[in-house]
Amino acid sequence: MTEENFRKWVEIARWAPSGGNAQPWRLVRLSSPSDLCFRLLVDPLYAKAPSNLDLDGAASLIALGAFFESLDLVARLDGAELQVQGLHDSSDFFAWSIDFKVSQAAAESPSPPALISSANTVLRRTTNRFAYLEKEVPEEFCEWMCLDFKQRGFALKFFESADERAQIIEHLSALEKIRWEQPAFLSSVLEELKEQPAEEDTQGIPFSQLPLRWNEVLLIRALKSQRWLWNLMPLGISGQIAKSAVKVPIQGAPSFFYIHPLSVASQAQGKGFFDLGRSMQRLWLAAEEKGLALQPLAGHLLPHQALKNPAAFRLTAKQEVVMAKVAGRFQELWGLDLMQPLFGFRMGYPTQAAPTSFRKGVDEILPSVQDVLAS
Ligand SMILES: Cc1cc2nc3c(=O)[nH]c(=O)nc-3n(C[C@H](O)[C@H](O)[C@H](O)COP(=O)(O)O)c2cc1C
Repeated sequence: MTEENFRKWVEIARWAPSGGNAQPWRLVRLSSPSDLCFRLLVDPLYAKAPSNLDLDGAASLIALGAFFESLDLVARLDGAELQVQGLHDSSDFFAWSIDFKVSQAAAESPSPPALISSANTVLRRTTNRFAYLEKEVPEEFCEWMCLDFKQRGFALKFFESADERAQIIEHLSALEKIRWEQPAFLSSVLEELKEQPAEEDTQGIPFSQLPLRWNEVLLIRALKSQRWLWNLMPLGISGQIAKSAVKVPIQGAPSFFYIHPLSVASQAQGKGFFDLGRSMQRLWLAAEEKGLALQPLAGHLLPHQALKNPAAFRLTAKQEVVMAKVAGRFQELWGLDLMQPLFGFRMGYPTQAAPTSFRKGVDEILPSVQDVLAS
């Protein structure tokens, strides 16, 4: 196993998904050049100014998990494996990291799943935000997903009936509204809108691709051009945008899921998010092979961030009450604990291929050995 092999795998793993395309992964060499031991951590530069959908680093850990899973799968195609050597858990998710060693795959190690047939074509996947066909996700695939997640310690919950979806939308909109009322979130969206062409995606909400009603389109256009509209947020505009942001992705695809750990008590939360990212990536690759597309929805990380640390989230007393009430209803209706690692995504057959998105280079993720030894 050479440094050259490893760089080749990183070249592929860097195509893993990340919230807001932050690509927060960073590798540091832990040992002498003869050994391939690395620490995977959240890029310290990114951690200093994280995306607004990643206030507590949970989205970063999901992304690190997805990156690690790809790296492991592609290594296994070459007869190697990544052995976890240590976990540096921390309640500060940005300070979380994992150490691993690259070695020859042990004889008893499972071979790479048949579905990962070609690293280059399968692992280079993209998020598909386009409209989805009415066609349902095949039942056998849903069963496979449930089983795969279960084996990894996660429960996967489907929301398929119109009633259930309507209820989820109602509850999530109340939470999403809180996000849109955060000055930091809103100003970052406005900044992004100023910089990007109108057709671009922003903070995970691709306005141009959403089949919005005319009044919502007008609102968003106005929001793009008129900064003063910000002041109108408390008058109800945030509610309308929040509803669209939640409703469209959930209604716009035949399947909507939640994943959460089966046993939270036994898992440190940072590890919970990391493992969730690993499972999601595995599922994503399997889905892609079947022509299915997946879209994670970062808005689902909001309750965790805000409930865990209302002060950092700068929730008003009224918003705290809303959060607590919605959290109680989630528990009551669906047995979902918003305080625990929990993530949602939609899935279906896309109507169009997703365009390729930007990725940073291997050298930014994996500095040369000389750099590491020098620092
Ligand atoms: C934790 C996490 C949250 C994400 N949230 C969203 C989201 O809310 N909406 C969305 O369209 N995509 C979301 N994505 C997908 C990313 O935006 C996407 O992976 C990234 O921009 C790279 O683009 P690509 O996957 O098309 O290559 C999320 C991905 C992750 C890992």
